[in-house]
Amino acid sequence: MPVISFASSKGGAGKTTSAIVLASELAEGTDVVLIDADPARRLTRWSKLAPPPKRVHVVTSGGERAVQDEIAAARRRASFVLIDLEGAASRLNSFAICESDLVIVPTGDEQQDADEAIETLAQIAMEGRARRRDIAAAVLFTRTNAAVKSKLEKHINGELRAAVRTFGTELNRRTAFSSLHNAGGGLRQLNPADVSGIEKAITNAEAFTAEVVDMLEETRHAAIA
Ligand SMILES: Nc1ncnc2c1ncn2[C@@H]1O[C@H](COP(=O)(O)OP(=O)(O)OP(=O)(O)O)[C@@H](O)[C@H]1O
Ligand SMILES: [Mg+2]
Repeated sequence: MPVISFASSKGGAGKTTSAIVLASELAEGTDVVLIDADPARRLTRWSKLAPPPKRVHVVTSGGERAVQDEIAAARRRASFVLIDLEGAASRLNSFAICESDLVIVPTGDEQQDADEAIETLAQIAMEGRARRRDIAAAVLFTRTNAAVKSKLEKHINGELRAAVRTFGTELNRRTAFSSLHNAGGGLRQLNPADVSGIEKAITNAEAFTAEVVDMLEETRHAAIA
């Protein structure tokens, strides 16, 4: 019952969107609990716009005193537990990160984004040291240009990829992803009459999901070895 947190010290990096996308894809085959651990409650808001995909269950966290119990209960209930965190350092974030099998750090490909991603990874590593275990973490490029990257974007992207663990797949900037916050539901519930490029977004989401599943498997083997 893997637990996956979405963390970044930078607000607006794409945590909530990426969590919704991953939850919706995983829920094509199994039950997923999405814990909204951000006091801004954006995930909860999304869940009320339209019914979430059938096997996605949204839990609004009661805060730092409740989150560990919420994670334990979610693990009993679902095959995957995803936690959407606030874009800041907090005790709640620390608790969630310590309970995670994988922390996904979304980032754009501007220099400031890259610096923030490295800072977030350093914070995760510190949590791991305090708990005397390695907490697996990987950077996910989000909101990147699907067509061509500028020279500078390519450079920053390449530098970060060389320095830290990253997902090969990028969740590109797509209207279908941002539309989830207006329409509610998952990509497959979007109306093609209202939103363009849904198919491409689904293909993109599937590739990301497959990589997450592979990474969890790798991490599990590394922990056993
Ligand atoms: N891949 C994407 N394509 C297009 N738009 C995106 C994508 N990812 C995120 N966005 C948009 O960027 C904005 C910020 O995204 P999101 O809310 O997911 O970030 P966040 O890290 O959860 O922010 P916060 O720290 O404020 O909770 C939203 O308006 C969202 O619609
Ligand atoms: Mg958010």
